[in-house]
Amino acid sequence: MDTRTAGTARPARRTVRPSRPARTVVRWAVRHGIPAVLLERGARSGDLVGRLLRDRSVRDEPFALYEQLRARGPVSPGSIGLVTPSHRIASEVLRSDRFGVGWDPSSAPRLIRWALAFGDDPDVSGVAEPPSMLVVDPPDHTRFRRLVSRAFTPRATAGFEPVVQRTADALLDALELRSGPVDLVDTFAAQLPVLVIADLLGVPTDRREDFLRWGAAAAATLDPGLPFRRYLAAERALRAMNAFLREHFARLRREPGDDLVSRLVGLPEEEALTERELHATVMLLLGAGFETTVNLLGNGVVLLDAHPEQWDVLRANPSGWDGAVEEILRHDSPVQITGRTATAQGTLAGRPVRPGTRVTVLLGAANRDPEVFDDPARFDVRRPNAREHLAFSAGIHYCLGAGLARLEGIVGLRSLSERFPGLRVSGPPVRRDLQTLRGFERLPVTLR
Ligand code: HEM
Repeated sequence: MDTRTAGTARPARRTVRPSRPARTVVRWAVRHGIPAVLLERGARSGDLVGRLLRDRSVRDEPFALYEQLRARGPVSPGSIGLVTPSHRIASEVLRSDRFGVGWDPSSAPRLIRWALAFGDDPDVSGVAEPPSMLVVDPPDHTRFRRLVSRAFTPRATAGFEPVVQRTADALLDALELRSGPVDLVDTFAAQLPVLVIADLLGVPTDRREDFLRWGAAAAATLDPGLPFRRYLAAERALRAMNAFLREHFARLRREPGDDLVSRLVGLPEEEALTERELHATVMLLLGAGFETTVNLLGNGVVLLDAHPEQWDVLRANPSGWDGAVEEILRHDSPVQITGRTATAQGTLAGRPVRPGTRVTVLLGAANRDPEVFDDPARFDVRRPNAREHLAFSAGIHYCLGAGLARLEGIVGLRSLSERFPGLRVSGPPVRRDLQTLRGFERLPVTLR
């Protein structure tokens, strides 16, 4: 309809809808631009968390910096709240009901509240934003987790073993046909987890290259202070992933299968998830299902290649793989960083903590805490207490897929070692340009 009326000099007011680019800029500014400025300023004035998150060389090898932080005590202040490298304090924070993952925007300045509302767009919502269970507190967290946890019980996980083994074998069969150096991330470490989780969720495995591409771009949204260009790439990936999920849910509503996602879309009305909750839940399962385990497999091969005598021990005694996988998770944790926000007044290592205080929990540093692990920088597949690591976090957000990840690690690394006993890293591995996740993007190996 034409809103101009004949005979009136002034045009009628048009409703101005925010354009997509404006919303994207605002979304980036509030989620990444402002944290980037704070971290950058902190890094320049000697704040170690700022350096950890902004300086790529530190990020690639953060362990010396973790020790500098440890020397300052179990908890120290940084540019975005407090930080802990301590296993004891990390465990306390992760298990405490005085800390949550949520953040109450009503306490934020008005401009930030406006920016959050203006920039909100469900089509680009990812795993680090509510209502993803990773970042919501009870009671919503309890509701989401209960709906999916049945698929990840120890019994259900043990039932996946044939699928994991079959998938690993098929990938190794394909590798048999290759001659010369291959990229082990591209051909094996990334493929195994994505194929297994796609099978479990009933999503078509022939879309796996799309998932891997989208996952790689979207994984960056876990990092604070992302540059605008990378944020744009992540948003494009999230938009494509949400569009895929929308079609997938519609298909499963018409023709449900015998999988977890069919069950989620078909829940009775009183339990049903909203469309946004459904997207967040399935995207988290899919993304967490492959973006982390790829790092466990890649880090494992690089560590064992650097310690060939330990690899020989495992070849001679394959029952040692359980312990080896725990030690890989401890020594080079695929998820290095998480965080919590205080919900109540209290203290932490004797320091007063006010509600709203952010605590950065350095899982990778806690897993090298000498109070818990003897000579923690040493890689030792026979370390008796490696399993005490916090690589899967702790408390109510303890990794739902830990059992599946362990199974993929054990079956994947054991099968690879048995099939290619002469496997060696043949060139410099390339790290992923990520802060929260630690792993390799490329890992050149010779198989024989
Ligand atoms: C080596 C592989 C993996 C590692 C190191 C890992 C690590 C983690 C960590 C550290 C958290 C909690 C973060 C926090 O407390 O803030 C987490 C949560 C989660 N992980 Fe994993 N994960 C892995 C594999 C998997 C797999 C295969 C799945 C399969 C679906 C999965 C699904 C989840 C889910 C759904 C959550 C959220 C749980 C909640 O918030 O209650 N993860 N993971």
